[in-house]
Amino acid sequence: MTEVRRLVFDRVGPPAEVLRLEEAELPDPGPGQVRVRMERASVNPADFNLIEGTYGVKPTLPAVPGNEGAGVVEAVGPGVEGWAAGDRVVVPGPGTWASRMNVEAARCTRVPPAVGAEFAAMLTVNPPTAWAMLHEFVRLEPGDWVVQNAATSAVGRCVIQIARALGWKTLNLVRRPEAVAELAVLGADAVEVEDAALPKRLRAITGGGPVRLGLNAVGGESAATVAKCLGPGGVLVTYGAMSRQPLKIPNGLLIFNDIRCHGFWMTRHYQTMGAEAKEAMFARLVELHLAGKLAVPVDAVFPLSGWAAALLRAGAEGRPGKVLLDLEG
Ligand SMILES: NC(=O)c1ccc[n+]([C@@H]2O[C@H](COP(=O)([O-])OP(=O)(O)OC[C@H]3O[C@@H](n4cnc5c(N)ncnc54)[C@H](OP(=O)(O)O)[C@@H]3O)[C@@H](O)[C@H]2O)c1
Repeated sequence: MTEVRRLVFDRVGPPAEVLRLEEAELPDPGPGQVRVRMERASVNPADFNLIEGTYGVKPTLPAVPGNEGAGVVEAVGPGVEGWAAGDRVVVPGPGTWASRMNVEAARCTRVPPAVGAEFAAMLTVNPPTAWAMLHEFVRLEPGDWVVQNAATSAVGRCVIQIARALGWKTLNLVRRPEAVAELAVLGADAVEVEDAALPKRLRAITGGGPVRLGLNAVGGESAATVAKCLGPGGVLVTYGAMSRQPLKIPNGLLIFNDIRCHGFWMTRHYQTMGAEAKEAMFARLVELHLAGKLAVPVDAVFPLSGWAAALLRAGAEGRPGKVLLDLEG
């Protein structure tokens, strides 16, 4: 047994109302498990949805939130081979908003020591989502364009960097003018403050290059703008709904332009991709990170005891990066 501090909710609802910090005893790791001393965990939009009860899976209550995190292996359970205390691991959720976790070793991914706790804590959700959406729907050729909204999001920033590294161009729609310069520095080929007339300026922006993939994390009018930027046969992938508005796609785009609409959920993708493919994807992402080509900016780090302030900040408009929890604090 060892001590653990963690956030818990006993009913779904507004996070500020239903979360509480508890201290408890954690049993020794069971067969196949490792005990991880957690270092960092991210606060993502999906964490809010899970706690509110509006996510694609319902929590088994009482539940510890947190969909990703990272830490150091502290102890190994019976039958666990090839793992040693001190290994830094990427830990998938649920339950990462805790100072310690017992988790199946097979679900963890070891990362080289050069990968810091912060990047490791953000490696499960957003970079893989960007990677998978860029690879699973369209076979992009060098010079092809990808258009996306919510380009300032963690996923959006990963899309920009991965596309740049692989030779694809990105047209990035933002809602704040001050974000334009920020994304240009990351490697965006074009950044535009979103407005309904944008598709009319498309040729001037892309030089007529093929726009084959659209990534939508907003919904509503914004999704329509992204769809209108697609060339014939282009694919619109919806993976988020930050505006909480339904998709609005003009009928003619499907009839005359043969636009295809898909949804994407990384959780489902993990279930179908297989351990080898997952390991290969993580290895590529780590390689890009260590080569200085992929980073996820951090806005602020809050101690676990400061969880209420962390959630408030995570819900703020115009954050330049992710909010992280320091699980040692
Ligand atoms: N389907 C999946 O598997 C999957 C995986 C990962 C993420 N996601 C989803 O992807 C989206 C982005 O996640 P993230 O963690 O990358 O986000 P994030 O880093 O927390 O950033 C939030 C983004 O949403 C924008 N935004 C917030 N409210 C908005 C609104 N009402 N209208 C338009 N834009 C708005 C923000 O713009 P400002 O910068 O201007 O504030 C920012 O770009 C979320 O919906 C998340 O649930 C889905």
